Amino acid sequence: MTTPPVAISAAIPGGRPVVSQSAGVTVTRTGVNLGAEITGVDLTRPLSELHFKAIEQALVDNQLIIFRDQDISSENLMDFGRRFGELTVHPFAPSEKEAPQLIKFRNDETTPPFGTDVWHSDETFRAEPPMATMLVAKEVPAIGGDTLFASMTAAFDGLSDRMQQHISGLEAIHDFKPFKALFNDSLEERKKLQTFELQYPPQLHPVVRIHPVTGRKLLFVNPQFTLAIKGMDERESRSLLDTLFHQALVPEYQFRHHWAPNTLAVWDNRSTQHYAIHDYYPQRRYMERVTIKGGPVTGVPRADPKTLRRGKYVPLPGANPTGGHRPH
Ligand code: SIN
Repeated sequence: MTTPPVAISAAIPGGRPVVSQSAGVTVTRTGVNLGAEITGVDLTRPLSELHFKAIEQALVDNQLIIFRDQDISSENLMDFGRRFGELTVHPFAPSEKEAPQLIKFRNDETTPPFGTDVWHSDETFRAEPPMATMLVAKEVPAIGGDTLFASMTAAFDGLSDRMQQHISGLEAIHDFKPFKALFNDSLEERKKLQTFELQYPPQLHPVVRIHPVTGRKLLFVNPQFTLAIKGMDERESRSLLDTLFHQALVPEYQFRHHWAPNTLAVWDNRSTQHYAIHDYYPQRRYMERVTIKGGPVTGVPRADPKTLRRGKYVPLPGANPTGGHRPH
């Protein structure tokens, strides 16, 4: 059983309290559309079910939760991840044999960061992308290396009714294309790539997704993995995707997180996107990450076709249907 959260401070727009408490876990909202800090828990120790439920709820409510001063081991991180569900193994990220679920992002003067300075939700090239991701900072640069997050529910809400209706029921193709650059042209590497292509074929996901817990609608396309909209020609698809990708760039839907050592961020990978700012190279930055298996992606149905325009040209009442070319 979960103790209902108690609001202990004034509300932000939308009626949510800035500070609330449940089972001794304090949740302090730090961003308007997403982001909260959690205090009152020690992640080096096993969590009670009551504590865990309060944290799980905070994640869904705030989309991004931050824990500070958590000097946790890789095992603590994996144990915390497993409370949410099964950990997944990223097919292309650096990990170690003994713990393939643990990704180690070690960047320094010899290893510049790769592939995370693009807006994305993690691994949407999978049939069932992760439900959440956890990232803990072990070593941070003296300056730079922040991560940007965007609320994709806010991004959807910010579209006009017309656009929301237009994209409802559309599906988009997602693919691991950016990781193909990791394979060279040798026969062995090409074979490896082929195996991955068979294992991770392009996936169709709804453009407008329904969050499985909150039921809120959200925009589910991202510039890293979304290639095209199904059923549209190349130019239509590109311009629509550009418009939709732009939503994550709107500062009002974003939250910028500045890291300190032993800070852990957990994001709801269904309702957010993120972008790691690669401004710190050649300084060192060392992070550890786990992702938690997600479920099926459910979209909204197609908008009522009666409310959509059918033809390319709909004459206005009383207009000359020949477009001004009158027979003599
Ligand atoms: C990621 O995209 O998972 C990494 C984010 C970061 O390094 O800040």
